[in-house]
Amino acid sequence: MHNGKKVVFVSGANRGIGLEFARQLSEVGYVVIGGYRDPEKSQDLLTLSETLSDFNVFRGDATYEEDIKRLSQYIRDHFKKLDVVINNAGINLKYESTIDDVDPDDIMENFRVNIIGPFLVGKYLRPLMSSGNGSKIINITSQMGSIQMSNGGSLPYRLSKAALNMLTRNQSLAYRDFGIITVGLHPGWVRTEMGGPKAPLDPAETVSMMLGVIENLTPEDSGAFLTYDGRVLPY
Ligand SMILES: NC(=O)c1ccc[n+]([C@@H]2O[C@H](COP(=O)([O-])OP(=O)(O)OC[C@H]3O[C@@H](n4cnc5c(N)ncnc54)[C@H](OP(=O)(O)O)[C@@H]3O)[C@@H](O)[C@H]2O)c1
Repeated sequence: MHNGKKVVFVSGANRGIGLEFARQLSEVGYVVIGGYRDPEKSQDLLTLSETLSDFNVFRGDATYEEDIKRLSQYIRDHFKKLDVVINNAGINLKYESTIDDVDPDDIMENFRVNIIGPFLVGKYLRPLMSSGNGSKIINITSQMGSIQMSNGGSLPYRLSKAALNMLTRNQSLAYRDFGIITVGLHPGWVRTEMGGPKAPLDPAETVSMMLGVIENLTPEDSGAFLTYDGRVLPY
């Protein structure tokens, strides 16, 4: 049971930014459900679930409809509601390829994870989110999805994050009447497997700032494309 605490689902919670979201949300009093796929790659997450109270894990692939339906049922059975979703799972395939080296499959795979995941999560978890109670869907996007700011390169990723931004916009409009705030949040360039060792931000820094932004969101922000420190980015 959740004893009145807010319940959050974080996808891709086994490492990188997602693991840090799960850890910090637990510290500030949320009931956490952390999504992961492979136990062998998820030791830090599984250890947290064994040591912290109200810290739960759910094994599934963010792009498999059946897994997201199972997740919805699991949340309904155990917590009866959901307050916040962090759609964090993501990939960046073939980021060094030139436009002529990209295969259609690279584009499709980036779309599958970076858009179909957040789309399915919205579709199946939104009905568990209570209306008028500050429920929030946070799509972790990237500045690289801004059409206006693009300087080329990393085509599969840029296409998928631009499309995720459109998904965010449409979800914000469709879910507004349910009292749900939906935004896209760019975490900055972060030292993770995806971001690499030269990135200036560590996951703890950016997640702490993103939680400040998430906490202060109002219905007027719904549909916005924001940075980790709350600046508005152009679509
Ligand atoms: N790092 C940066 O500089 C940066 C910048 C801008 C935006 N972002 C965005 O921030 C988010 C997190 O990135 P990160 O840097 O933490 O990346 P990361 O370290 O590579 O972690 C990616 C996470 O996504 C999960 N994932 C991938 N495919 C999945 C699937 N089909 N189903 C479920 N989970 C899946 C991975 O799980 P497995 O371990 O099972 O593969 C992992 O937990 C992504 O959306 C990314 O696009 C990152």
